[in-house]
Amino acid sequence: MARRVALVTGGNGGIGTEICRQLSAAGYQVVTTCMDPEREGIREWQQALQEEGVDVSWVQCNVSDFAACQTMAEVVESRHGPVDVLVNVAGITRDAFLHKLEKTSWDAVINVNLTSVYNVTRQFVDGMRSRGFGRIVNISSVNGQTGQFGQTNYSAAKAGMHGFTMALAKEGARKGVTANSISPGYIATSMTAAIPEEVREQIVSQVPAGRMGRPEDIARVVTFLAADDAEYINGANIPVNGALFTSF
Ligand code: CAA
Repeated sequence: MARRVALVTGGNGGIGTEICRQLSAAGYQVVTTCMDPEREGIREWQQALQEEGVDVSWVQCNVSDFAACQTMAEVVESRHGPVDVLVNVAGITRDAFLHKLEKTSWDAVINVNLTSVYNVTRQFVDGMRSRGFGRIVNISSVNGQTGQFGQTNYSAAKAGMHGFTMALAKEGARKGVTANSISPGYIATSMTAAIPEEVREQIVSQVPAGRMGRPEDIARVVTFLAADDAEYINGANIPVNGALFTSF
């Protein structure tokens, strides 16, 4: 069988890069989207991975733009073949208390973190259904489960991803297409490095594990959910948060 193709949106970010590494190590042909190749230094990123023996292709796409996603899907499938695994990772924060939150920051976070999941998944789900195989993994957040100071926009988008995931899981269940979400806690990446230091320290002091998580902690769950034999795990949310938020 040809190698399965995995598309990772925002695969060159902190969590995304590790997802690309682990999917590649698991034998997938991995493609990432990136929004601005020059500004993000995507060629250098690709080269650095290649030196580690990790082969990842990239395609330019603004995932908040539906038409751009249509074009991206055509490019990816013509170069690599049908996408079997889609990991929606692309996300941003624009933190501010609601009484200070600008409309532009609301729109940006909803568009990049939530509408993008529709924009991208919509391109591939039809093909997955007709081939009888698909794995969709949405990277949400503990803050979509609990809410967080300064994150009405982000918490709303991340909670929205759960609703999307559960509905899509039901739609794909008889077609071999699963949809699951992962809710990372505070993972050491540039996104959490941007939190004011005192606030970050205070948050980390509340994590029972006593430390932030690592991108590897998230990537191992992605490869688990992406596997061919993971079909009955569908519509689930897997928290990976060092016991910061526990529920059943
Ligand atoms: N817990 C408890 N109190 C908090 C708090 C928190 N997490 N965040 C803010 N506060 C309190 C502050 O202590 C402060 O209290 P006082 O008025 O008594 O001093 C009050 O709220 C106002 O805070 P600031 O002075 O910092 O106000 P600000 O307007 O300058 O900034 C903020 C507010 C944007 C929320 C800022 O505090 C902040 O960036 N907090 C971090 C938010 C956060 O956790 N973001 C997560 C980003 S990473 C991510 O999202 C990845 C993921 O999925 C987990």
